[in-house]
Amino acid sequence: MRARIILIIGGGIAAYKSLELIRLLRKRDIAVECVLTESATHFVTPLSVQGLSGAPVHTALLSLAEDSQMDHIALSRSADLLVVCPATANLVARMANGFADDLATTLLLATDTPVLVAPAMNVRMWQHPATQENLRLLRTRGCLFVGPDEGEMACGEFGPGRLSEPEAIASAIEDALFPHKPLSGRHVLVTAGPTHEPIDPVRFIANHSSGKQGYAIAAACAQLGAQVTLVSGPTSLPCPAGVTRVDVTTAVEMLAACKAALPSDCAICAAAVGDWRVAETAAQKRKKEGGAPPELTLVENPDILATLSQPGTLRPSLVIGFAAETETLEAHAVAKKRRKGCDWMLANDVSTGTNVFGGDQNRVLFLDGDTVEPWSAMAKTDIARSLAARIAARFSSSPR
Ligand code: C5P
Repeated sequence: MRARIILIIGGGIAAYKSLELIRLLRKRDIAVECVLTESATHFVTPLSVQGLSGAPVHTALLSLAEDSQMDHIALSRSADLLVVCPATANLVARMANGFADDLATTLLLATDTPVLVAPAMNVRMWQHPATQENLRLLRTRGCLFVGPDEGEMACGEFGPGRLSEPEAIASAIEDALFPHKPLSGRHVLVTAGPTHEPIDPVRFIANHSSGKQGYAIAAACAQLGAQVTLVSGPTSLPCPAGVTRVDVTTAVEMLAACKAALPSDCAICAAAVGDWRVAETAAQKRKKEGGAPPELTLVENPDILATLSQPGTLRPSLVIGFAAETETLEAHAVAKKRRKGCDWMLANDVSTGTNVFGGDQNRVLFLDGDTVEPWSAMAKTDIARSLAARIAARFSSSPR
């Protein structure tokens, strides 16, 4: 299941930064549903919040009741974390004193979900004993805090009270959502995307891989604390947070980048590597010139998965491959796992109509030893999370 937060946006000038925060959280594959206080609507519009979060925006207790889709109790319990950003001095005071006179404070009072507070206020308001006492109360009740930073403020003053940068708040949210980091201290190498094998300076041989599954795996391993090197063929995807990406174009470059990234504890080969490359890439664009079409001589590319699986001191202790097949999935996957020498294999059906290439859903068979386990159809991000959890479980039972 995707992690889900309720973001309560308070009415301060820093509210505009919550828009960037929503964008960053979605990049980290965290679902965000927003609640705006009445004064927050004067700083950011529900429409922009809804557009960025891709979820309904709640502003008033009454509209929620009329909506009857979800009451405030259900809403407050539907999330893994409640985040208050920006938390103004007023909102902090109302939280500390148990107010429940609007949707935001009612949610905060009705919840038993952890709460993370990102304060933002004028330096004097921050330093006022009333605010400090309210903060102390909230801390003793278990509220988590991120910031504030010290610096120049919108009001022109300087000191503590400035909202933390959205990147720092996103990381604090991730830490609160995933407090256990079972892969910390582990290096995970992931290959993803297609390769492009050049024919001449303007043409290449490629495939339909989007890289989504490999990128999701890199993100899921990073969320569990791994140091992740993502060796990526050409894709249009943004690099997941906390991941080091090495961009390559061809299979030969991908192998070199993987070797350079070793040693690693685990290698996951999710890339759709071109099996062949053109023996001689033309230095200039090939021309039609009225003659017969050119004949391309192909040579086999190195097999990265098989190379990484070879016994040796640099072999990652866990090597995982993918088998993209269009027929007799299980038999092909079993044979491929044996041939490549990897430890685990995830086999998926990429035949026309499955929409696996480029889509967000996938269905895999998971092969470990002689067992073949069918996983139900799910989002690629959920497959990634399940796989990362398996890897963590495997390492928790083996010494470093
Ligand atoms: O042989 P096939 O391409 O079907 O094998 C698929 C698996 O092998 C995937 O894990 C893929 O990333 C990996 N592979 C590789 N290098 C190649 C070809 C495939 O790492 N040249």
